[in-house]
Amino acid sequence: MQWTSLAKLALVAPSYALIRFGCSQLVVDRLDPLVNPGSNPSPHLHQIIGGNSFVPDMTPANHDPAKLSTCTTCQPSEDFSNYWTAALYFRSRNGTFKRVPQKGNVGFEGQNGGMTVYYMQNQLADYQQKAKVKAFQPGFRMLIGDPTAGTKQAADRYPQLTYTCLQDMNTRFPETKAFPAKPCPAGIMVNLRFPTCWDGTNLDSPDHISHMSYPVNGTFESQGPCPASHPVRMPQILYEVIFETKTFNNQADWPTDGSQPFVWSFGDTTGYGNHGDYVFGWKDDSLQKIMDDACYVNCASMKTQTVQAMNACSIKGKVNEEIGDNTWLSTLPGAPMAK
Ligand SMILES: *[C@@H]1O[C@H](CO)[C@@H](O)[C@H](O)[C@H]1NC(C)=O
Ligand SMILES: *[C@@H]1O[C@H](CO)[C@@H](O)[C@H](O)[C@H]1NC(C)=O
Repeated sequence: MQWTSLAKLALVAPSYALIRFGCSQLVVDRLDPLVNPGSNPSPHLHQIIGGNSFVPDMTPANHDPAKLSTCTTCQPSEDFSNYWTAALYFRSRNGTFKRVPQKGNVGFEGQNGGMTVYYMQNQLADYQQKAKVKAFQPGFRMLIGDPTAGTKQAADRYPQLTYTCLQDMNTRFPETKAFPAKPCPAGIMVNLRFPTCWDGTNLDSPDHISHMSYPVNGTFESQGPCPASHPVRMPQILYEVIFETKTFNNQADWPTDGSQPFVWSFGDTTGYGNHGDYVFGWKDDSLQKIMDDACYVNCASMKTQTVQAMNACSIKGKVNEEIGDNTWLSTLPGAPMAK
């Protein structure tokens, strides 16, 4: 693994920080304070990590997660942000659904479900992290991806939302835009990379996307420049969400027509509707201070808590419904049609 390579450590020092950390599950609930603020329930189920002030309505004027949270499920003890994606289901041959649980990444085996989060200034494997970024501000939020995308062409508007079929826990390629077509022995990893160029003014926008932009050409990784409309280079946030498919990998249980059996909680069986949401909630200027530090993954500037403390932070679901953890459901929560 690059980030533990002592040879690299000896050669050069990083200029700025790259951080990578685990977060346990906060709650799995049918809420979406970004797209459906105040709605209880929202149309589809999400899995959510981060600060415990997560509620149906988080309008910035009266809700700063860093001030209202009393704990976080994330390893950095000053990160009360909320991060979420849709939940994943397995559809059986008789049409019933069971929720697919998540598991921690390599090195985060003790965490309860959740995901791995990165903030980067250059590409992941670049130990030097030379390109300085501006951290997100209080009140900032964004989403990426489109749950209504049903074709590869529609999904390709969002270049870096992908799946990795884990042969083992260290598999990192290839990445696909559609759900893996075959069973993945160690699970399905969902990769969500957010856009990195900010308009410099708006903390949010009506579609929660257009205050941000991808680089004008190339990619964040290739140092592609930000467009004039969105000149401020921000950290690249990456989510890695690992769905533990092992109890669903027997092909005798898979559809007889040869298709794959996994479906997002909003009914997408293609995988093209992959999307994720972010509400900033780092305490004070702690994120900027960490990002300005010269460190790679092991950053003393990032205060941390134990896995036990991460796992101890959770909230109760507010929507009282069966979500298919113990029983087979005849419809997905909220009843979106699987298609
Ligand atoms: C549907 O399939 C699941 C998984 O094979 C099984 O456990 C369940 O009993 C079935 N339900 C019905 C109503 O046949
Ligand atoms: C992007 O465009 C700039 C300005 O036109 C150019 O200098 C740069 O080489 C381009 N980068 C890539 C990765 O294509």
